[in-house]
Amino acid sequence: MNNFRTYLLIFLLFPLSFFAEDGSQLWLRFPNVKKGISADKIISKGKNPTLEIAKKELTTYWQGQMIELRTEKSLKHLKDGYIIKSNSDKIIISAGKENGLLYGVYHILRLQQTKSDVNHLNITEKPSYDVRILNHWDNLDGSVERGYAGKSLWKWEDLPNKISPRYEEYARANASIGINSVVLNNVNASPNMLRTDYLQKVKVLANIFRPYGIKVYLSVNFSSPKVLGRLENSDPLNKNVQNWWKDKTSEIYKLIPDFGGFLVKANSEGQPGPQDYGRTHADGANMMADVLKPFGGIVMWRAFVYSPSKEDRAKQAYLEFLPLDGKFKDNVIVQIKNGPIDFQPREPFNPLFGALKKTSEMAEFQITQEYLGFSNHLVFLAPLFKETLESDTYADGKGSTVAKITDGSLRNNKITAIAGVANIGEDTNWTGNIFAQANWYAFGRLAWNHELSSEQIVNEWLKMTFTDNQKFVNPVKEMMLSSRETAVDYMMPLGLHHIFAFDHHYGPEPWGNIQGGRPDWMPVYYHKADENGVGFDRTKSGSNAVSQYFSPLNNTFGNIETCPENLLLWFHHVPWSYQMKDGKTLWEELCFKYDSGVKNVREYQKIWDKMEPYVDAERFKQVQSKLKIQSKDAVWWKDACLLYFQTFSKMPIPYNIERPV
Ligand code: GCU
Repeated sequence: MNNFRTYLLIFLLFPLSFFAEDGSQLWLRFPNVKKGISADKIISKGKNPTLEIAKKELTTYWQGQMIELRTEKSLKHLKDGYIIKSNSDKIIISAGKENGLLYGVYHILRLQQTKSDVNHLNITEKPSYDVRILNHWDNLDGSVERGYAGKSLWKWEDLPNKISPRYEEYARANASIGINSVVLNNVNASPNMLRTDYLQKVKVLANIFRPYGIKVYLSVNFSSPKVLGRLENSDPLNKNVQNWWKDKTSEIYKLIPDFGGFLVKANSEGQPGPQDYGRTHADGANMMADVLKPFGGIVMWRAFVYSPSKEDRAKQAYLEFLPLDGKFKDNVIVQIKNGPIDFQPREPFNPLFGALKKTSEMAEFQITQEYLGFSNHLVFLAPLFKETLESDTYADGKGSTVAKITDGSLRNNKITAIAGVANIGEDTNWTGNIFAQANWYAFGRLAWNHELSSEQIVNEWLKMTFTDNQKFVNPVKEMMLSSRETAVDYMMPLGLHHIFAFDHHYGPEPWGNIQGGRPDWMPVYYHKADENGVGFDRTKSGSNAVSQYFSPLNNTFGNIETCPENLLLWFHHVPWSYQMKDGKTLWEELCFKYDSGVKNVREYQKIWDKMEPYVDAERFKQVQSKLKIQSKDAVWWKDACLLYFQTFSKMPIPYNIERPV
């Protein structure tokens, strides 16, 4: 009897948990679970684990016509791409390899889920980048640097024996949006990552990810030979050191034959690197490149370098890397943060893009919201990613956008890649905020096709994650599309940057100026407010960072009249009474921007409250409570910044702006 009750309870509860609306299903909410087409309606040749996954997705979720999956040698040039052709009787997906077929299957499932036409398809897709990679900043102790979705997904203590079902769910989610590579561990890497027992664990993850087309990479600590191998040093020109890396690399490839390569943060923020031995970044990167080369591995060498010095931090990476152009081996790619400082709500693009003419370059974006309200604030990042990608560097003349510089369409790049610092953790909803899932989604979709518009991405994501009801999609879409600009307004409008509270980077601290602390970590270093005005003079009369941009940008940015107003205080120290384009003084404009940021968030709250009929109660409440926090934080930012800056401007807050309390 007891058993019967238990079974009854499980039977009754199972559907509930299966359809749990806790966000765990991400965007993968294909309709009518377990009612796909029968296996005999799928035509395919050969046996391959990736193909098996593609077929399983179809038999579980595809409800349309019969499908043929074909690999064709002649389509190898599409790399992971595919061709889909259809009529109402049949769909043919063809690709150079099985990964392409799997991506094609996710494509048609997406069309089905968003209720798009699937009967007249004639699509050719080829990814913008070869390597579409997530960088996890996960530590071996289970913590995640700048992670706001709980602890790490990787359970190092349990591996290699106990395997969480989430590893495969994670791989599937990535595959569904075209992500094909992951760095498992923090760029501030522990040498232990390369210990044999850890590599055994990595192997298990690599085996799970492989059929989903995903390769594993590791962040490595430059001092590993010394710390782990007990060598006398880690000098890249020392033969023993070179041999250590060679042996370690062979060991890795024995375990993981398709291992992707290394990501390296060297001589940056206290991390060890080749400069410790008087060598250059190129010496360090090339040593690793040499040992990876026979296996087809690559080195992603980060350009995020700066140190406390008289030189403007925004100029330092360029100064350090430019002289090394042409000195890197061809399996090295320099990984450059989108902006020259550090993932701020708004930065100009990093001047290194395009400036390195003989070196492969890739962009690094931050999906995790270190500087954008953690997982509390709703900030949709596709517009930020696209702003950088679409920026024209003028490096090879007009039209040399960051996207084209990095995707190989302008230059003959040996490797093309794009990285996003993951926002994923063990939280049930993966990202700590349901709307942060959209940023994971957006990164993957843009890595696949950087020409997609933010609006297209939002449309897809909303319809897949919630509903296709236009009464829901339209207002929520507006909210998402404006959310990044809103965050800029209530945090750091007009080009202000890095005025965050020290270290944790959540709230405002424009007054931050710890005595004896590193000046380049202090907010006052960045805003330079005084009685005359506010902003960092990066023109010729100041740090001359503008000179690192190609003509005509150096002049456009360098001239206060032509500098885009959204970057004004990034490049100029501007008098409080300076007249802005709309006729307001700078001070009034600042007040107005902070205030409109706050008002927009309140507007989002109202929009969301009206969405209750279209969303399940659980997700509705989660989002509602997050927006409440965001709204309070926006006021906190506005009040703190305006009251602080007012001590310099000594000007009144305009009458139509909400008074700080
Ligand atoms: C930021 C971040 C650090 C991180 C660093 C990096 O400075 O705050 O936590 O390690 O970027 O990208 O290396």
